[in-house]
Amino acid sequence: MSHWFEDAKLGIFIHYGIYAVKGIAESWSFYNKQISYEDYMKQLNGFTASAFDAEKWADLIEKSGARYAVLTTKHHDGVALFDTKYSDLSVVKKTPAKRDIVKEYADAVRKRGIRVGMYFSLIDWSHPDYASVYQNGEIPEDLSAVNPFSSPVDGVEHPEKWERFLEFNNHQLSEVLGNYGKVDLLWFDGDWERSAKQWGLPEFKEYLKSFNPELIINSRLQGYGDYKTPEQGIPITRPEGMWEFCTTINSSWGYQPGDNHYKSLNQIIRMFCDCISMGGNMLLDIGPKEDGTVDERQEEILLGLGKWVKTHEEAVFGTEEGIMNRYWLGGSTISKDRKTLYLFVYDQPRECVCLKGLCNKIKKITVLHSQKELTWEIHGGVPWFQIPGTTWISLKPEDCHENVTVLKLELEGEVEMYGGSGAVVTHN
Ligand code: GLC
Repeated sequence: MSHWFEDAKLGIFIHYGIYAVKGIAESWSFYNKQISYEDYMKQLNGFTASAFDAEKWADLIEKSGARYAVLTTKHHDGVALFDTKYSDLSVVKKTPAKRDIVKEYADAVRKRGIRVGMYFSLIDWSHPDYASVYQNGEIPEDLSAVNPFSSPVDGVEHPEKWERFLEFNNHQLSEVLGNYGKVDLLWFDGDWERSAKQWGLPEFKEYLKSFNPELIINSRLQGYGDYKTPEQGIPITRPEGMWEFCTTINSSWGYQPGDNHYKSLNQIIRMFCDCISMGGNMLLDIGPKEDGTVDERQEEILLGLGKWVKTHEEAVFGTEEGIMNRYWLGGSTISKDRKTLYLFVYDQPRECVCLKGLCNKIKKITVLHSQKELTWEIHGGVPWFQIPGTTWISLKPEDCHENVTVLKLELEGEVEMYGGSGAVVTHN
C-alpha cells in the first residue's frame, strides 16, 4: 500500500508572515542586510490579517485539487504565527492581528479532508540563544565572515545556550504538534546551519513522532527525514523514494508585489505533470498579502490548475511514475493496476504523436478531457523477435486541450516496455 503522501500529488505551500507588510524577502532580507533587523521587525506593527479568512484559503486549496497544505508556522525570523507560551515573538502577541493563524488554518483545512502540514524553521535568527554555536562545532578561521544571526562573532561557543535553544524549539514544536489536532506533515527548513548531532538526532525525530507516529517529516533534517524536497529546479533524475518538488508561482515565497516574474498556467501544469511523471508531488507556493488575501494572479493559477486536475483526475491520482522519455517525448503516468497508460502531450502535434517500445496490445485510446476515441497505426516491429513496432497515434491539433492533453491508453495486460537495442532479423 502506498503512503497517503505519495498519492496526494499536489500540495499548496503558504508563506505567510510579517515580511508581506513591506513585501520583502522572508527573513533573508535582514540576514542578508537588505534591511536592518529593527526595520524588518517594525513590520510587526503593520501585520493586521484584517481580511484573513481561513475558510477562503481552504476553499482555494480545495479548488486547486491539492490534497495537502503546508503553512509557515514560523520562518527563520522567529515570528510565530501561533500562540506560543515560550516567546513573545508571535503575531498573536506582537501584531495588531492578535490571532492564532495556525489554529484557524488547521481547523479550516482539516474540515475539508485536506491533510494538515506545518512548516517550521529550525533556524531562529531572533532567539537570543540561537547564535551560540558553530555548524558542527567548527570555529571558522575568518570570523569576519560569520553572520551574527547564525553564530557568535567572537569565536567562543556557548553550549549551554544551545541546549536551552533546543529545549525552546522542542517546546514550540510541542505546541505546533500538540495544540492544533492531528498534524500530518512537518516541513522543516534550515537544518543546514547545524549538524545532525547538534540537532540531537535521531532522538529528536523520535520525540516528534511521539506526537503522532504517522507524522511524516520532510528531508530537511540532516539525513533523518522521510522524503526529499528539491526546490525551484525540477529534478532531471528521479529522486529516490518519496519526494516533493516545491516551487513558487513567481520567484518569491512570500508576497512581493514587485515580483512580476510569473509562470503561466500552462507552465505550472507542465511542471506538475513532470513531477507526477517521476512519481513525485508538487508543493506549489502562494504568498498571501499581509491582510491575508491572495494575489489574484496566484489565485487564478490555483483555480486553473484545479480545473485541469479535476478534468484529468484519473491520470493524476491513483497513478504511479510513468515511462521513460525514450519511449515517449512527454510525461506519463501508469494506473496502479498497470493496465492503463496516461500520456501527457505538451505541445501541438502535426498529424500524430509517437510512442515507441510498447509491447502490449492496445485496446482503446481516448483523449481524456473529451472522451474522443483516437485511431492508431503500428509500423515496423518484429513480433517473432519480441521487438515492438512504433505506435503512431492520430492526434490532431483540434483534439488537444488548451493546456496539457492527456491520452488514455487501455492495454491488454500490464504495461510492458521493450528495453533492447534491436536485432538483425535472421529469419522471416
Ligand atoms: C529556502 C529558504 C526559505 C523558504 C524555503 C522554501 O530553504 O530558506 O526562505 O521558505 O526555501 O522551500
